[in-house]
Amino acid sequence: MSAPTLTAVATPTAVRLRDVRKTFRRRRREGRAALDGIDLDVAAGEFLCLLGPSGCGKSTLLNILAGFTSADSGEVVVGDRPVTGPGPDRGVLFQTPMLFPWLTTWQNVLYGPKSRGALTPAVRDEAAELLETVGLADARDAYPHELSGGMRHRAAFARVLINRPGLLLMDEPFGALDAITRAAMQRFLLDLWQRHSMTIVFVTHDVEEATLLGDRVAVLSAPPGGTKDVVEIGLPRPRRYEDTDTLAFVEAKRRIREVLER
Ligand SMILES: Nc1ncnc2c1ncn2[C@@H]1O[C@H](COP(=O)(O)OP(=O)(O)OP(=O)(O)O)[C@@H](O)[C@H]1O
Ligand SMILES: [Mg+2]
Repeated sequence: MSAPTLTAVATPTAVRLRDVRKTFRRRRREGRAALDGIDLDVAAGEFLCLLGPSGCGKSTLLNILAGFTSADSGEVVVGDRPVTGPGPDRGVLFQTPMLFPWLTTWQNVLYGPKSRGALTPAVRDEAAELLETVGLADARDAYPHELSGGMRHRAAFARVLINRPGLLLMDEPFGALDAITRAAMQRFLLDLWQRHSMTIVFVTHDVEEATLLGDRVAVLSAPPGGTKDVVEIGLPRPRRYEDTDTLAFVEAKRRIREVLER
């Protein structure tokens, strides 16, 4: 993959969550709380991992940040604005890469700018650069079904990055990948994050992944989720997969596990 030359994000984005609550109501019945008072700050440019048991509300929290769903109460601020709906300042990546099957890689990447009427020659140049960055320059005319799992993920990345989001929201993006592709994608993501000024909120339930990627790991409690604790990782960067064997890495994992099991 060649070195990216994308221009830096114009406005650094940070996240502020205060006492965020959400209950999904079932018909005529009292619903159970999915989020029971989340307090969390994410600094601009930080890589924050969200970790917690299944059903603790990680995806709900991410969807609230993305503006796909709203909190019942509490404060949800991205940058300097309360979140009221989705916006191109926030890029979202899910476990299954979102690509239109009837569009080529190139058309998928340009879909966002095109639908906003912002398809300028500069944006086309940027899309070409991005495809270089994600190693898909040769696959620009391929359709999603012609790409491997890892390639589809990288295409989805390019599709999101063309909007130059200040905040990247990722919900177990590599959960369905095999171990080798997953390690390659983790490396790719760390490289991308280090070259661009992006804030990342990354949901995982893999302690090792959280330790490898995160500046801090916010551990949510069992359902209904609240913030249990935030663990500072403190390992030097750049980090590599080979670091996972070091004593410092194992120690960081142990600190996270302690909070999880508390
Ligand atoms: N659209 C919905 N309607 C009703 N209940 C929902 C909805 N979305 C989530 N929930 C409930 O909210 C709770 C939290 O769900 P959420 O998907 O946020 O958990 P999670 O931490 O992402 O879990 P996992 O690790 O399994 O992905 C669960 O009890 C779930 O059943
Ligand atoms: Mg989830």
